[in-house]
Amino acid sequence: MAAQENTLSAGAPIEGADGEAPLHVAIVMDGNGRWAKRRGLPRTVGHQAGVEALKRIVQAAPSLNIRWLTIFGFSTENWSRPVAEVAELMALPQRYFRTDLPRLEREGVRVRVIGRSEGLSRELVKICREAEARTASNDSLYLTIAFNYGGQADIASAAQRFAEEVAAGRAKPGDLTEAKFAEYLSTSDLPPPDLIVRPSGEQRLSNFVLWEAAYAEFVFQDVLWPDYSAEHLKAAIAEYRTRDRRYGAVITDDVLAAG
Ligand code: FPP
Repeated sequence: MAAQENTLSAGAPIEGADGEAPLHVAIVMDGNGRWAKRRGLPRTVGHQAGVEALKRIVQAAPSLNIRWLTIFGFSTENWSRPVAEVAELMALPQRYFRTDLPRLEREGVRVRVIGRSEGLSRELVKICREAEARTASNDSLYLTIAFNYGGQADIASAAQRFAEEVAAGRAKPGDLTEAKFAEYLSTSDLPPPDLIVRPSGEQRLSNFVLWEAAYAEFVFQDVLWPDYSAEHLKAAIAEYRTRDRRYGAVITDDVLAAG
């Protein structure tokens, strides 16, 4: 797993939305199947159209001041889809990088693919690692692609890794704080998402960034992912900017007066 050296770290001070734009946006790219069905097309065509939407959003993100973009490409539960659909989903990253990697490199996008490599072909893992290596020095946008990823699986892996440290005598159970635990997650070098967007009308997290979503704001939009455009993302950001992020605290008048 490649490590990113972010200029803004996960430990950056927490700030409320207060009209500010979100720095880290995470997206559940939902609705490809329905988009295709409405057109009498195979679901696989919906996923291909979904890649085109992804390209639009990656291109628009920096101009919307997004620094980190995390997208859900394939979940640990998606294996239970029809074989032909899984095969198509497995082919998407390779096709995406084949057509878009030069542009990502040129435009300063740093790519990282998180998720379990077990079950993925060696060729696919190699292509993902190559995309990470070729963009390793970029820093205009950190694009994290969650592929064969599940929030619960990631938490279980983190727990296993910490348990191994304890078993090896390198850590004590009492060392485990929330911050320490987060270091074992595959997202350890990203700040937590400020905004989680899910188009397609569904309103759930579907095992995406479970730990990291603790204080994220959610925006659900009634558009299918293949139709998603920069305008939809702008609308989600506008909604986010109206939110008052309190992180469980109470903002008293004297705190506000102190600025
Ligand atoms: C959910 O829609 C979407 C997915 C399971 C896959 C999303 C993947 C992409 C848009 C492309 C990923 C590209 C790369 C490069 C990784 P759904 O099929 O569940 O839609 P439905 O709810 O309408 O059936």
